[in-house]
Amino acid sequence: MPLVSMRQLLDEAAKGGYGVGAFNVNNMEQIQAIMEAARDTKSPVIIQASRGARSYSQDKFLYHLMLAANELYPEIPLVMHLDHGNSFETCKSAIDLGFTSVMMDGSLKEDGKTPASFEENVAVTKAVVDLAHSKGVTVEGEIGVLGGIEDGHGAGGSGLEHVTDPAQAVEFVAQTGVDALAIAIGTSHGAYKFSSKPDGSVLKMDVLMEIHKRLPNVHLVMHGSSSVPKDLQDVINQYGGKLKPTWGVPVEEIQLGIRNGVRKINVDTDNRLAITGAIRKVFAEQPEKFDPRDYMKPAREAMKKVVATRMTQFGQAGHASDYAPISIEEMKKYYTKAAAK
Ligand code: G3H
Ligand code: 13P
Ligand code: ZN
Repeated sequence: MPLVSMRQLLDEAAKGGYGVGAFNVNNMEQIQAIMEAARDTKSPVIIQASRGARSYSQDKFLYHLMLAANELYPEIPLVMHLDHGNSFETCKSAIDLGFTSVMMDGSLKEDGKTPASFEENVAVTKAVVDLAHSKGVTVEGEIGVLGGIEDGHGAGGSGLEHVTDPAQAVEFVAQTGVDALAIAIGTSHGAYKFSSKPDGSVLKMDVLMEIHKRLPNVHLVMHGSSSVPKDLQDVINQYGGKLKPTWGVPVEEIQLGIRNGVRKINVDTDNRLAITGAIRKVFAEQPEKFDPRDYMKPAREAMKKVVATRMTQFGQAGHASDYAPISIEEMKKYYTKAAAK
């Protein structure tokens, strides 16, 4: 089975009424953790790499690890997705390398910090859609801007400054033809999203529902969707870490989103927390250890547990073999036909 199109995975998720987690990776252990979780839960998979991940790993290494994952887990439909592409060139280089899906995040300018105008966003996203679809590759766009900047990406602020305008979302989809749409509803990247359990004043599920009402057939994407669970924070702090009290996006709010058109849910921070906690535990309890396998194995196991839990909570578990995967080559024809209509 080749790497598959994200469009197909999300279309199937819409038919089945479930969501699919998109998990960020930078290295082999993270890919292994996700694939093991997928095998155990029988889940289709989206693995995504940010620009930072591509430069950290030299993306060709990452690509070949993905091919290995595909070879070793042939029963799992697997998408390789670019997270937060910042320009046409970034998306093009991912497509040239073999990614089967790209995000063109034109909500920000190329610096990844300054909010872009609606017109700028449409222009760059449409250019990526034209290129990507001609190659059978899926495109995710973003309208509205996430808060936070701690990972070097985002416009800063609380996340409420640039919540998506539903009317603009409709216009954006019509003008660009994106396959999936990331929206801003008050979340941000990283561990510090909310200072208490979020309610409707900071997490705008009402906006999400309004967008879904106006765009019932568009696959919505929730970024910044780590739940930042207290138990993962506690392990880190118990073993010498210094996380400040914080709250993420409760899983029940994500599940409400899934009932209202959310098909892709981005999770990175929860896995970072799980990995760091497991490594800190080994360092604290067994300071005589120095073989990286002694701490990378528990780290991989801790991430696998988080991913398997999310796959079950998002509803993708059990759906790995519902459908025959469509190749990127076949997807080219799909887009050509759609354009001719
Ligand atoms: O976009 C946010 C993801 O968590 C990726 O983070 O840019 O530090 O790799 P990164
Ligand atoms: P978290 O930081 O909440 O895990 O969000 C990840 C994300 O949105 C990647 O694009
Ligand atoms: Zn994101």
